[in-house]
Amino acid sequence: MRAVRFHEFGPADVLEVREVPDPTPGPGQVLVRVTAIGVNYGETLIRSGRATEVVPWYDLAPGALGGEVVGVTDDGRRLIGFALGEGYAERAVLPEDATEVPDGVSDHEALALYLQGATAIAAVDAVRPAAGERALVEAAAGGVGSLLVQVAARAGATVVAAARGERKLALARELGAHEVVDYGEPDWSSRVDPVDVVFSSVGGAVGRQSFELLRDGVGRLAVFGFASGEPLDVTAVDAFRKGVAVLGFGNPLTPDTVRRAFTLGLRPVLGEALPLADAARAHQLLEDRATTGKVVLVP
Ligand SMILES: NC(=O)c1ccc[n+]([C@@H]2O[C@H](COP(=O)([O-])OP(=O)(O)OC[C@H]3O[C@@H](n4cnc5c(N)ncnc54)[C@H](OP(=O)(O)O)[C@@H]3O)[C@@H](O)[C@H]2O)c1
Repeated sequence: MRAVRFHEFGPADVLEVREVPDPTPGPGQVLVRVTAIGVNYGETLIRSGRATEVVPWYDLAPGALGGEVVGVTDDGRRLIGFALGEGYAERAVLPEDATEVPDGVSDHEALALYLQGATAIAAVDAVRPAAGERALVEAAAGGVGSLLVQVAARAGATVVAAARGERKLALARELGAHEVVDYGEPDWSSRVDPVDVVFSSVGGAVGRQSFELLRDGVGRLAVFGFASGEPLDVTAVDAFRKGVAVLGFGNPLTPDTVRRAFTLGLRPVLGEALPLADAARAHQLLEDRATTGKVVLVP
């Protein structure tokens, strides 16, 4: 089968198509013919080698990548899940009890809702924005962010969508954001009133500025990513000083979060669908901040 692999950490073009043996499922596993692959931002950090800097507990080596796939079993079941082994490939192994894609949901829609929907839901569960509270969403037009805007708005929060550029802010408004702010502008945070909750996926300076926007004594920040390549630089002493909570969460994919991702009626935002052989271009677009919503590869 064809698979996309990388043999050294580096820029997007280290990704290349290779002919490799089909994987073999073990007990409790099933082989699928992959019909679409979800590209997640974290994979760009893994490929570039930056993941080990940002999340040093990752012990990664160059090789296979990914990933989130939709695939069809020999007996015609359409499953979604994380491939055991590699995911940027024409065949993949999934757990036999992987989630079935609901009828009427396209591959692209399913991939937009699966990991990113579960992550948005887990983040909201972590910090529980109450009706009337102000919630700041970073990267609000991205895969996770575009769903977070919707989940937080449904909880009754006043959603402040932060992203770079007019196109992304317009999308966030369409998805239900009440206020928008372009954090590409250096003084952006001075134009935002204090917030009760922050959904923090960018890290670096943006993460720090968002943290400072938290209302003293009541604020909560859910941290689940570092798209800038720099960790969120906030210490326990900082949290103590402001009287706020910083919460992380582990694997967001649970049967409950996945069920809710598919049944809440969220609008999946569909980004580029590119051929598997264009995996490098998909990574480049994500790193260039040129995408909105979910990017997929089609074998
Ligand atoms: N913990 C988990 O289980 C989990 C699961 C899924 C995703 N995540 C994390 O959640 C975040 C969102 O993931 P996603 O797949 O939905 O990606 P995404 O939001 O679709 O893409 C990343 C976005 O981050 C923003 N960004 C800010 N600074 C950036 C920089 N220096 N370089 C590139 N992008 C930058 C960009 O939006 P703007 O241009 O608007 O800033 C970009 O579009 C990522 O940090 C990812 O690692 C975590």
